Amino acid sequence: MSNDVTIFVCVSCRDGADQDARPGAAFMEALRARLGERSLALSVEPVECLAVCKRPTTIALAGPRKWTYVIGDLDRAAHVDDVIDSALRFGESENGIVAWKERPVCFRKGVVSRTPPLP
Ligand code: FES
Repeated sequence: MSNDVTIFVCVSCRDGADQDARPGAAFMEALRARLGERSLALSVEPVECLAVCKRPTTIALAGPRKWTYVIGDLDRAAHVDDVIDSALRFGESENGIVAWKERPVCFRKGVVSRTPPLP
């Protein structure tokens, strides 16, 4: 089921302190590396912008017949495993809606929006 999940990662956001840094790109690399370490096959796709540019790192969790969640304020040092766990729970859910108490804290606090699946 979780193979139907795609984690879109904005790789274009700029770091406020270092305009040359791309925290989302670094987050995506760390995410892919960690998925390999955990032998998980979630899809990770870079995107140029999720329109949440002031809250890097920003991702979206998406899958067929599921609500899409956009989540911001993610930190590479703190949240890679939490994003993986969020994506796994998202994949296991029937429609993408993960119970509040089952969401890692970064998922609870960082949600920017959710969008329903196409009918
Ligand atoms: S550049 Fe990352 S959300 Fe816009």
